[in-house]
Amino acid sequence: MRKMLIAGNWKMNKTIPESLQLIHDLMRKLDSDCPAEVVLIPPFISLSSAAEALRGSDIQLGAQNLSHLAEGAVTGEISASMLISVGCRYVLVGHSERRNLFQEDDTVINQKLKTALSEGLHAILCVGETWKDREAGKTKDIIGNQLKRGLEGLSLMEMRKISIAYEPVWAIGTGKNAQPGQAQEVHEAIRSELSSQYDPETAKATRIIYGGSVTPDSSPSLMSQPDIDGALVGGASLDADSFYAIINAVK
Ligand code: 13P
Repeated sequence: MRKMLIAGNWKMNKTIPESLQLIHDLMRKLDSDCPAEVVLIPPFISLSSAAEALRGSDIQLGAQNLSHLAEGAVTGEISASMLISVGCRYVLVGHSERRNLFQEDDTVINQKLKTALSEGLHAILCVGETWKDREAGKTKDIIGNQLKRGLEGLSLMEMRKISIAYEPVWAIGTGKNAQPGQAQEVHEAIRSELSSQYDPETAKATRIIYGGSVTPDSSPSLMSQPDIDGALVGGASLDADSFYAIINAVK
């Protein structure tokens, strides 16, 4: 049985004091029998304080990005071992904002996955199509290619430490989430792609989460779909009440 995963990607929002306030507000609300695994993904600058604030709680910490290189002369980058040392367990790889704004391609995404896994991080690989791709009927081809190239050369054991986030680019930050049926159809296709790239058991065990304008209103019907194993939440994770409501919708 896959445990639901609800991750809050704060993107480039919240100073350190604001991050701590949000964590404090959220911890006050979450009870010990939380129905999902919860991961907070603040900006790099807040990771250290966040790790301190989360000590002893079941909430996990994640990072939004990492370098594809292990160490060295790479000004401005953050390595996988640095993320481990600050207390991160998760890292996002291949978010569409990284792909589009910073020209990350599937080759570098594949290297980032390998680097993350080699240091013991759990990676969340993000995939998704643009509206133009969808209208052209290319959604499954685009995502199939992102999965093939992104996961190239990763072993079965490594795949066990990866979750997939389906984030249609047209749904991110637009207030226009994929309809539950639309999302389910793509999640099912992702699982079937994983089954052919790996095996049915691995495909069944992999968490495939949905992201793109998830709100307390849209999450219950999305989360009740058979192949949706959680959510990657942007805007609605910046407020303790709305993020808590999304976590609770898992019940
Ligand atoms: P929004 O929830 O703000 O649409 O962002 C989704 C996202 O990109 C999470 O990674």
